[in-house]
Amino acid sequence: MALLRFFRNGVIVGSAENQEGVPILDIAEDAGIDIPRGCSSGTCGTCLIKLLSGSVPMPVPLPPGLDDDLVAEGCILGCIGIAEGACDIEINPPL
Ligand code: FES
Repeated sequence: MALLRFFRNGVIVGSAENQEGVPILDIAEDAGIDIPRGCSSGTCGTCLIKLLSGSVPMPVPLPPGLDDDLVAEGCILGCIGIAEGACDIEINPPL
């Protein structure tokens, strides 16, 4: 089983089993971990989180809610990001 671990300012705040095909934001919500949500479609950037380790491909290379600088910092969008296996995720927005 692959575990998603969620951190806030580097301190672990919770974890949940990854679910195939389920966005990180939905898995976090089911585990009681609060990540802000807006459009749920990769457009607004409200659900911005940072990938500390693991792999979370975006469905398109640069969704509207991200920019090149954010991608370079390891940022992803939780509403459209589906983890490939275990991941560590910083949920405090990096901005
Ligand atoms: S909720 Fe808008 S980009 Fe994720």
